[in-house]
Amino acid sequence: MNEVFFKVATAVIEKSDANHPADAVLRDELRKQRGLTRDDGWEISKAIFAYFRWLGWMNAKEPLPSRMEKALRLTEKFREYPDSFFDDHMVAKAVPDWIREQVDVTPAFARALQKEPKLWLRTKHGMREAVERELRYCSVPENANLPDALEYEGSIDLFRTPQFHEGLFELQDIASQAVSVICDPKPGETWWDACAGEGGKTLHLSELMQNKGLIWASDRAEWRLKRLKQRAARAKAFNYRAVSWDGSEKLPTKTKFDGVLVDAPCSGVGTWQRNPHARWTTTAQDVSELAEVQSRLLGNVAGSVKPGGKLVYSVCTLTRAETTDVVTAFQKAFPDFEPVDFPNPLQPKTIKRDLFMWPQEFGGNGMFVASWKRK
Ligand SMILES: C[S@@+](CC[C@H](N)C(=O)[O-])C[C@H]1O[C@@H](n2cnc3c(N)ncnc32)[C@H](O)[C@@H]1O
Repeated sequence: MNEVFFKVATAVIEKSDANHPADAVLRDELRKQRGLTRDDGWEISKAIFAYFRWLGWMNAKEPLPSRMEKALRLTEKFREYPDSFFDDHMVAKAVPDWIREQVDVTPAFARALQKEPKLWLRTKHGMREAVERELRYCSVPENANLPDALEYEGSIDLFRTPQFHEGLFELQDIASQAVSVICDPKPGETWWDACAGEGGKTLHLSELMQNKGLIWASDRAEWRLKRLKQRAARAKAFNYRAVSWDGSEKLPTKTKFDGVLVDAPCSGVGTWQRNPHARWTTTAQDVSELAEVQSRLLGNVAGSVKPGGKLVYSVCTLTRAETTDVVTAFQKAFPDFEPVDFPNPLQPKTIKRDLFMWPQEFGGNGMFVASWKRK
């Protein structure tokens, strides 16, 4: 890596902490630098993420530049000779110790976290072949019931392609795509995407509903809803209404819904492959606080589900407290909701109730989904 790249990467690593995630600090630093191309930014970001991915292998007493060089060497070595890394070292070093209370850290999971993440696209329905042909370097996930998913292995800036601007595809992780497929909304139904954020799943639900019916898309962050509206315009998704909701008992509408999706805020352990900095800033306390928020959100929306309607809970994390414990507590407090079995879209022959999607199994983010029907 050249000297300028090294300087930028070092500055980002030094400024990153729990309140300043590395990806946001990197964006700021790149904005300040003149004369760096997009490819330069890409190379710098790879070095920074390699550093956080291999942090458990570092000796804190060594100077930062040597640690960064070591991280790049380990990345190469792991890509070429993965078997030269021992399972017990992977399990011990890839994650912080506190997580073992919450997640079964197997060698396969630890190894998956040390790989660079795949890039997944979701195309407009029926456009997968056309997008695949035009972008090239794409492949279709094997055996999955996700007819619009594509893995992209090329190197162009997808945000600058005409296909992106025409709304022919979105960047969306394969596990997130599975969530909306599990919701299985029908054209003409009324849904509530209660934690809609920037609309990743709202847009997919809209697509599955063929733009017919209505989706209430709420979030407490106005700026996220603003982004949702921009994305919806590009995707030509019109059957939604964006509203602010802070997650409290005061609901944005008295409507009773055919389906409610709670894609809740979470500790994000399922994204630790894509976002290795978060491994070292997320805490056990975050997990327990978020588990309370998740239970509260589910409890607050439950009354908005029509009798016979669906409630779907999803989180991009794998901790017990935020997955099965939340489900068990909800079940106990709301006996008028019965758990529903559904096929795993990533492995359609497998029927699941509480579905854990692991990065080592499907090459996407780790994700958990549960679903109920109101009696
Ligand atoms: C996992 S993200 C949603 C991602 C989104 N569904 C998507 O697919 O792009 C969780 C969202 O919950 C929102 N959120 C956090 N705390 C909340 C609360 N107490 N009430 C409502 N929304 C909340 C966050 O602003 C964030 O956008």
